[in-house]
Amino acid sequence: MSFDTIIRGGTVATASDTFACDVGIRDGKITALGADLGAATEIVDASGLLVLPGGIDSHVHIAQPSGPGIVMADDFASATRSAAFGGNTMVLPFAMQQKGESLREVVKQYHAKAEGQCYIDVSFHLIIADASDAVLGQELPALVNDGYTSFKVFMTYEGLALSDMEMLKVMTVARETGALVMVHAENYDAIRFLTDRLEQAGKTEPKYHAASRPIPVEREATHRAISLAELIDVPIMIVHVSNREAMEEIARGRSRGLKIYGETCPQYLMLTEKDLEGLNMEGAKYVCSPPPRDKDSQAACWQGLQQGIFSLFSSDHCPFRYDDPQGKLLPKGKTSFRWVPNGIPGVETRLPILFSEGVSKGRITLNEFVALTSTNHAKTYGLYPKKGTIAVGADADIAIWDPKRKETISQSLMHGGTDYTPFEGIAVTGWPVSTMVRGKFVVRDGKLTGKLGGGDYISRDKSELAKPVHPEARIS
Ligand code: URP
Ligand code: ZN
Ligand code: ZN
Repeated sequence: MSFDTIIRGGTVATASDTFACDVGIRDGKITALGADLGAATEIVDASGLLVLPGGIDSHVHIAQPSGPGIVMADDFASATRSAAFGGNTMVLPFAMQQKGESLREVVKQYHAKAEGQCYIDVSFHLIIADASDAVLGQELPALVNDGYTSFKVFMTYEGLALSDMEMLKVMTVARETGALVMVHAENYDAIRFLTDRLEQAGKTEPKYHAASRPIPVEREATHRAISLAELIDVPIMIVHVSNREAMEEIARGRSRGLKIYGETCPQYLMLTEKDLEGLNMEGAKYVCSPPPRDKDSQAACWQGLQQGIFSLFSSDHCPFRYDDPQGKLLPKGKTSFRWVPNGIPGVETRLPILFSEGVSKGRITLNEFVALTSTNHAKTYGLYPKKGTIAVGADADIAIWDPKRKETISQSLMHGGTDYTPFEGIAVTGWPVSTMVRGKFVVRDGKLTGKLGGGDYISRDKSELAKPVHPEARIS
């Protein structure tokens, strides 16, 4: 048997094993693993390097409408280029519905934005903002059948927040169709109340963003989302968990036998609310929701990763430029943190941060790293075993890592559309040097070699993890 490519001499790691092994690739697939594989059109020398499944970042926002006068810093080209440099081979952005819009139309618009513009593979989650009978009765079930097998709901944000009644209806559709619900858990009314009070007291700088959504706001909504899911008997994923109390709600739900999954992100390991205290508008660089918390919250998020309470480590990449009135600087006439667009960039730094802080510093194993950044994303969102592993038959989506390389994260190293990284100055050990999607290098030895349009749209199966605890029981 001959191959298009053999990656030779590296150490392969999957979510379960680490072994010395060559990887044979033909027609974009992994077709052999072993020693002395024979001839290939190209031999890639991976001696001294790690050969890992490419990262899958299942929580990114790309080219999403973000309010009047605000423009997201990444389109599909810049976001997927940046992701590839960060060791990712696939991202899952959101196709976001706004009130009154047809979900099917929204999906078409996102396909038009992504078509021919991706360096790596993409698939879309949906965001349900308008839980009307037509959307829930017809559009959503049809889209789930068409491979859009997960959707996000918001418990906060103007124009996006769903009532408990709407959440229950959406969860019922998920149960009936086998889709997975992702929940942004923050209490909308509490945030509005606190925001009004802070503004009335003249507390308008970016640092008050954190004060407007303290931990109980997230904990209460997490508890409520879990309770609603329990009523419907439907699994849910609580996304971007920032602190111990919300994490404990997930653990408690699980101990009651519920399928409650959790995700955390680099900002909750590396940043705190102190980062929002920068002079003038500097703090706006760190405004995201939930906000970064404190040292104990960081420790809790590590524990959640180590103990499996969080199965996903995603970036929640939501990029806005800093020095730009269409980004983090307030538009004319707006004077408070309320108007700072929520979200920070991170698709390129997610993997080096977890590798360095997790694997290099001994907090998690290499196999746990692979699970948290790739395999679990594929399993959770209906992509496994085509994606998320190194196995015969899987897509040859591979990141080659130099585990010893030292870098300092800096905007000058980034390849996306923003003008800053919130992780500036963090020293890391371990760096993705090459990224291959379906057998073709997109980044090779730190240089872009992929072509625009080389990334495909991937339709997804329903996730095994989305099956209810009692599938045979009727919803009363
Ligand atoms: O602040 C954040 N996280 N912005 C992105 C949108 C979201 O809620 O995930
Ligand atoms: Zn969210
Ligand atoms: Zn997000």
